Amino acid sequence: MRVSDLPTLPARLTRPVYFRGPAPRVAAPLAALDAPMDKLKITGGVPLRGELAMSGAKNAALPALAVALLTADELVIDNVPQLADIATMSRLLRGMGVAVERHGARLTVSAAQPTATEAPYELVKTMRASVLVLGPLLARFAQARVSLPGGCAIGARPVDQHIKGLRAMGAEIEIEHGYIVARAPRLRGAHIATDMVTVTGTENLMMAAALADGTTVIENAAREPEVGDLALLLNAMGARIQGAGTDRIVIEGVERLHGATHRVLPDRIETGTFLVAAAATGQFGGADVTLRDVAPGTLDAVLDKLREAGCEVANNGDWIRLRMDRRPRAVSVCTAPYPDFPTDMQAQFMALDCVADGAGQIVETIFENRFMHVLELQRLGADIAIEGHTAQVTGVPRLSGAKVMATDLRASAGLVIAALAAEGETVVDRIYHLDRGYDRMEQRLAALGARIERQK
Ligand code: EPZ
Repeated sequence: MRVSDLPTLPARLTRPVYFRGPAPRVAAPLAALDAPMDKLKITGGVPLRGELAMSGAKNAALPALAVALLTADELVIDNVPQLADIATMSRLLRGMGVAVERHGARLTVSAAQPTATEAPYELVKTMRASVLVLGPLLARFAQARVSLPGGCAIGARPVDQHIKGLRAMGAEIEIEHGYIVARAPRLRGAHIATDMVTVTGTENLMMAAALADGTTVIENAAREPEVGDLALLLNAMGARIQGAGTDRIVIEGVERLHGATHRVLPDRIETGTFLVAAAATGQFGGADVTLRDVAPGTLDAVLDKLREAGCEVANNGDWIRLRMDRRPRAVSVCTAPYPDFPTDMQAQFMALDCVADGAGQIVETIFENRFMHVLELQRLGADIAIEGHTAQVTGVPRLSGAKVMATDLRASAGLVIAALAAEGETVVDRIYHLDRGYDRMEQRLAALGARIERQK
């Protein structure tokens, strides 16, 4: 496929991209919580075959834990993945006197009598989603002191929209010594329109509004499935939320919320990652992978792109089967808020395009620095040219194994996929980034036939 054959980019690209200002200096990789500097050693060239069950969604489990702060009753959360980020959120809550216990994939969380309403820098700097405790703390305890997350490898990632919305609900918020210091005797309902679509911003405001006095409307709300999953949990706790999953959410505040039991929805990004890994290895004799415990309806944009790349994708109920027996065709993607193509799948599809037949354009409109994986993919022999927020990828017949370094969660996944399709051995360093969002990825890929092992 020639570049001129590439589909013209969608009109939405005429809209301003979501971030502002120049890309920040690349922050040094964040030292994750006591995670060893493990590596993955991968020998490429094996087609993935077999069946695998997917985990619960990291980005639904994190707000589901934070929401426990809104009630004195116990929450029971099922299908919680075993991930570093979940451990970080659990540690953050325990630091506030919240009881968090894990029994396999079930977490019980009880914020009956918290002893603190603070999220310290030491934890927040390792996981930005810690900011999700801000809304609940303010709504139930009328105060909160939460460290500003600071930047991360993929961008500045400010939280100004979270603050703007809480101020609209009557919160007094100051930034003092790198902390968000918030007070609100009682939040009141407000009409809020966020300046851009923000997933955790929508979630924070929805949680705060659940206990506010009056009705809150969030315009330009994020439509991600994880937002809908959180609204399901909140309504099970006695909240009155309508419109989650659309760009207009209406929350009628209530006096108090009670406990509930909730099963977190499947992780669409983990699912997409394994599907792309299978697609990238099909040319080595035919890949055939069935993923179970998935939610196919949350992956439409990803499944469409896999079919465009030449994969045979079947799905029904809670499984997806992908077959691929040839080199993928190059595809072009442009990231955008749900239900469009997810930014969290951008690095994975870039890796696929690196070994594809033809050339593809990868446009990143959500984060200003989410091409960190390009330099590492080029070490594997990829042909990628970056121009602003667009990466022009021209597939090569073979990548060649090399030492590479992970820089952020989804970049790591892209490097693993490229390594599975590379000739020879690749060692991916600093995979603590990978462990934040994927549960023992090397064991699961090995179960599908990959030659991969973790090195301490
Ligand atoms: C969530 O991050 C996800 N994390 C991210 O997944 C995901 O990449 C992102 O949404 C986009 O889909 C969780 O849900 C825990 P945003 P979030 O607020 O909420 C700008 C992963 O790999 N913005 O939707 O932090 C922001 O800079 C992670 O699992 C502001 O300017 O992202 C970005 O450009 C990575 N001000 C854009 O909006 C704000 O107050 C979208 O960010 C908030 C956001």
